[in-house]
Amino acid sequence: MEITIDKIENIREAARQFVNNMGTGNVFAFYGKMGAGKTTFIKAVCEELGVKDVITSPTFAIVNEYRTEPDGRPIYHFDFYRIKKLDEVYDMGYEDYFYSGALCLIEWPELIEPLLPEDATRVTIAEQPDGSRTVETND
Ligand SMILES: Nc1ncnc2c1ncn2[C@@H]1O[C@H](COP(=O)(O)OP(=O)(O)O)[C@@H](O)[C@H]1O
Ligand SMILES: [Mg+2]
Repeated sequence: MEITIDKIENIREAARQFVNNMGTGNVFAFYGKMGAGKTTFIKAVCEELGVKDVITSPTFAIVNEYRTEPDGRPIYHFDFYRIKKLDEVYDMGYEDYFYSGALCLIEWPELIEPLLPEDATRVTIAEQPDGSRTVETND
């Protein structure tokens, strides 16, 4: 799947398209350079799924938990940017999240590549020269 976000005003529409194509997978790994738009797109996806909380990248913790409304399903948002060794990821109990069946949206998955479930969906976000963003998945 490839989605183009030509301008920020269209991000919700892009997120809706993404959500409609998520399939049955629960772990989504978002690759892309700093500033590509990973956090912004994840925020739009969460809003599209019914999260009303303020969505920002986890800063102090590795993971933020949100709840969808009205059904209260959890969504876990990870940012592994500051991870120095995989031990930190084991210690936070990553398996309890990744294999819970709950939706997991991951920034900087390249830093925990060996721990990503085999069936994780890989998503690449890139900023194009004209400022638009492309969101590409491997399915
Ligand atoms: N689709 C988009 N169109 C235009 N600007 C965007 C888009 N997505 C993100 N941005 C802007 O790019 C900057 C970086 O976005 P961010 O989501 O924090 O990137 P990342 O999490 O990949 O480092 C922010 O200023 C944000 O407003
Ligand atoms: Mg980010």
